[in-house]
Amino acid sequence: MREILKKLYETNNLDLNELTFLIENVDEATITDIKEKAKELNQKIYGNKIYIRALLEFSNYCRKNCMYCGLRKDNENVDRFRLDKNQIVDSIGKAYDFGYRSFVMQSGEDEYYTKDILSDIIFTLKEKFEGIAITLSIGERKFEEYEAFKKAGADRFLLRHETANEKQYEKLHPGMSFEERVRCLHDLKSLGYQVGAGFLVGLPKTSSQIMVENLRFLKELQPHMVGIGPLIIHNDTPLKNFSNGSVEDTFFYLAITRLLLPKAMLPVTTAVNTLDKNGLERGIHSGGNVLMLNLSPQEVKQKYELYKNRETKSVYDLDKVAERLENLGYEAYIGRGDHIDWSI
Ligand code: 5AD
Ligand code: SF4
Repeated sequence: MREILKKLYETNNLDLNELTFLIENVDEATITDIKEKAKELNQKIYGNKIYIRALLEFSNYCRKNCMYCGLRKDNENVDRFRLDKNQIVDSIGKAYDFGYRSFVMQSGEDEYYTKDILSDIIFTLKEKFEGIAITLSIGERKFEEYEAFKKAGADRFLLRHETANEKQYEKLHPGMSFEERVRCLHDLKSLGYQVGAGFLVGLPKTSSQIMVENLRFLKELQPHMVGIGPLIIHNDTPLKNFSNGSVEDTFFYLAITRLLLPKAMLPVTTAVNTLDKNGLERGIHSGGNVLMLNLSPQEVKQKYELYKNRETKSVYDLDKVAERLENLGYEAYIGRGDHIDWSI
């Protein structure tokens, strides 16, 4: 174990066998050490800034049926909504005036926002609000669509791989294929987006081998961002009889990911904050450096129910978040906050 940790800390890489050994034999003291090293590495690269993103959930319509997700197409108990261009521009404009410059636009896979409609929205936002970064999180699209959104001004794209094990992926995502997921991620990279991948912790039937596959997948893909969150059971989904993923495991994988991808932007995800009221502090102490705050209009927020009781801190409660960060010796940063290798 000592040898493996030394290699991880010095080279930021472990092969398949070493990762397997680490995951299967790790003890409490080692986990503490790994988290400490991850936190230090983050500080070395990104200093004491925690990058705040303003998240707008603009539609909860979805054509997909992911087994864990409350917004899945077959869930008839969802009150579906869609924001139009004016509503999107208004919401982002308010947060822009407040000082935010990094926006994440998230939705289910909603084909209402065609290539032209969404490109027009992105173009308008970039024109109106100088200096902002737009991150899309809208799921799988054709190369041509990703290309159009990039041309219109989108800067980044989040598309978690969810699990890198093909069999598990295809069981949990009816009608979808892992190959297509990877195609999307590669297209996004080749188009020049800053790309975010990531996985769920605690999916049914996850072996340590599958977690190794997740980590190796990330190391190979070299995404700019990685979202890691525990599964949270939603009662209106086929996974209703399973249990939540572990927050402890989530912090462990966050730390390992920081060590494998030192420069990655790593959010302390909403899911981890939902299950752990000290998620923010513990996430930062595991190498996390990004936090998303919610800017969705109040009336639509509760309709965006990936899982129940989602913790949604508002962008307008920045003071409270900033104070918690200050107590840890960090600063809430609301600028664009690009990946360190990125220059525009
Ligand atoms: N629990 C935790 N995360 C979830 N997501 C979807 N449903 C759930 C759930 N029940 C995550 C997926 C998706 C992201 C937008 O939300 O990983 O990529
Ligand atoms: Fe749709 Fe995303 Fe939920 Fe899957 S995880 S059902 S793509 S909103």
